[in-house]
Amino acid sequence: SDQSAFDTDVWTLTRFVIETGRQAKGATGELTQLINSMLTAIKAISSAVRKAGLAHLQGLAGSVNVTGDDVKKLDVLSNDLVINMLQASYSTCCMVSEENKELIITPKDKRGKYVVCFDPLDGSSNIDCLASIGTIFAIYKRITEGEPTDKDALQPGNNIVCAGYALYGSATLVALSTGAGLNFFMLDPAIGEFILTERNVKIKPKGKIYSLNEGYAKYFHPSINEYLKHKKYPEDGSSPYGARYVGSMVSDIHRTIAYGGIFMYPANEKSPKGKLRLLYECNPIAFLIEQAGGLATTGTQRILDVQPEALHQRVPFVVGSPDDVNEYLSFVKKFS
Ligand code: AHM
Ligand code: MG
Repeated sequence: SDQSAFDTDVWTLTRFVIETGRQAKGATGELTQLINSMLTAIKAISSAVRKAGLAHLQGLAGSVNVTGDDVKKLDVLSNDLVINMLQASYSTCCMVSEENKELIITPKDKRGKYVVCFDPLDGSSNIDCLASIGTIFAIYKRITEGEPTDKDALQPGNNIVCAGYALYGSATLVALSTGAGLNFFMLDPAIGEFILTERNVKIKPKGKIYSLNEGYAKYFHPSINEYLKHKKYPEDGSSPYGARYVGSMVSDIHRTIAYGGIFMYPANEKSPKGKLRLLYECNPIAFLIEQAGGLATTGTQRILDVQPEALHQRVPFVVGSPDDVNEYLSFVKKFS
């Protein structure tokens, strides 16, 4: 028939999450509820990022334009969306957001057993030039009883139950893992659902691209500059690596998973712990990369093993294809 190309049994992300939840022993459906609420927030952020409802933002022809003050900035709007959607899912007890200094405690009547650490809109310096940006999150089970405290959020990445990111790129994509491999889902705006497009994604053992803000070379440790020199002037006759850096971590990470290679935000003299935050930037990405067969390290320690001490702590971050990360570590060793 004329509709024969229409898939009537498609794997949406909602279906995938329900199915995974069903298979888990003793599952109550709380995690399913939580993930679905997160996905609703992501769809709303995607729509806002793409400036859908532009008339709403600019004022309809003939009407008075809203002032800049009336328009919520995209990062604030995204943060409000995630907090409200998650609290309304009755599955969280507290959250950590890049936008909030303190732990966000869920009102008592809406509490559940999960803790969510998230960056609602990462890469905010890219908003005004319309480059890709993203949302990152990690979900944990709470570990204390009674009033939620920082302790519930200060868990090592090893305890992650589910993590994901959304990339608002040329399409909107969600990468998600509940610990049984990494899957990619693409947003189909026609039905407002994420469709499973790649199952059990694996990163190449070795790539051909390195990615970091090389403008800070003056402040890097010599081991980093030696490694970079080796990538640009290989002594073994191999071809030099290509350089790519969007400056939006989700973009740089998604490319690293899709094409292979290495992404780094190392420490430098000006930022002795690098820039990226452990709880809601590095840990979720480290979890996803490992699920894809990659590695994530501070240079001296596996990221997921780091015991967090503060909600917004930074760590040096090096991730990617296993051979590339191991090669980088061999340079660290040479200089230690
Ligand atoms: P943000 O959370 O303020 O957006 O900062 C995080 C971003 C990452 O997406 C990106 O990897 C990094 O900052 C880029 O930093 P730099 O401009 O120093 O290279
Ligand atoms: Mg950020």
